[in-house]
Amino acid sequence: MEPKHGTQPIVVDETAGTKAYCQCGLSENLPYCDGAHSRHGTGITPIVIEVEADGKKAVCQCHRTGNQPWCDGTHSKPA
Ligand code: FES
Repeated sequence: MEPKHGTQPIVVDETAGTKAYCQCGLSENLPYCDGAHSRHGTGITPIVIEVEADGKKAVCQCHRTGNQPWCDGTHSKPA
């Protein structure tokens, strides 16, 4: 199953700690994984990372960034 792509990053006031960022695009709590990838049998898994410090983060939703899970501006370029 293809992921559902967004057109803009989601900017969050992130807190330090372990985070799971949705990669299937089906979560009802974007940019975070809510388990929808399993419920829909997508075969896609979230990116789980340790965020080192509190701060604003732009989380990629187009899934084309070269710096997952963070936005690198690729969404504004032609596919
Ligand atoms: S809900 Fe999308 S990766 Fe888990």
